[in-house]
Amino acid sequence: MFDNYEWFKMKVLTLTKIDLNAYKERQMKRRIDSLISNSKLDSYESYYKLLCSDKAALKKFINYLTINVSEFFRNPEQWKMFQELVIPMVQQKSGRFKIWSAACSTGDEPYTISMIMQKHFPISKYEIIATDIDDEVLEKADAGLYIDKSIVNLPDEYKKYFEKINNKTYQISNDIKKYVQFKKHNLLTDVYPSNCDMIVCRNVLIYFTEEAKNGVYKKFYDSLHDGGLLFIGNTEQILNPKDFGFTSIKSFFYKK
Ligand SMILES: C[S@@+](CC[C@H](N)C(=O)[O-])C[C@H]1O[C@@H](n2cnc3c(N)ncnc32)[C@H](O)[C@@H]1O
Repeated sequence: MFDNYEWFKMKVLTLTKIDLNAYKERQMKRRIDSLISNSKLDSYESYYKLLCSDKAALKKFINYLTINVSEFFRNPEQWKMFQELVIPMVQQKSGRFKIWSAACSTGDEPYTISMIMQKHFPISKYEIIATDIDDEVLEKADAGLYIDKSIVNLPDEYKKYFEKINNKTYQISNDIKKYVQFKKHNLLTDVYPSNCDMIVCRNVLIYFTEEAKNGVYKKFYDSLHDGGLLFIGNTEQILNPKDFGFTSIKSFFYKK
């Protein structure tokens, strides 16, 4: 709709360190254009000026373009598989089993992992790190407040970890929160954590270009121990896992 998207992408990279070239262009441009129209502006230039002068607008922009829908036990079948695969791996490991929830959004995913792990193991057997590019979702994960929609797939046995605050909002228990370490991290530019036994990265790579996605797969490979697992999202599939050193062991699970 607006002209000068190339110029805008360059400016956004300098301002936010987010490289819009790595995201599928048609979809991203459409989203940004509608955000600009909704802000009652009519060009990338005027919107960029707003981003430079108004911190709240900049925060809103980053939060909007990163798309952060999430929920507890998203795609429950896959979490059953997660348990079947991970429990024996943790039992066999002598040290701590390291799980990285990459692009964790508001914490629903790493807290899902925390609940499952706590059911089966003491904290001396595992650690969970969780990262996202967006400060706002990390703040929400820290607050730990969720609306009822986020927990529709929560199995009954884990309901004890949610305290009802009002008719729509729940507070997650500190017993689950305290075992997840959150950190800001950009999958496209930052150094990756090392020595992981499992990387959970779901529902973010669908927004990346093929080139950006392939770069991420390579870096995930380097972050994992031999035999480590990569767990990806429902609509994602690595077409040529061997090119990256992975073997597909179940739908959505790849082994180094
Ligand atoms: C749709 S959510 C997925 C949340 C969770 N993994 C799930 O499947 O429910 C996508 C997340 O990816 C994050 N994200 C987008 N680009 C990113 C990047 N370059 N590096 C790290 N996180 C990114 C967004 O901020 C957002 O929280």
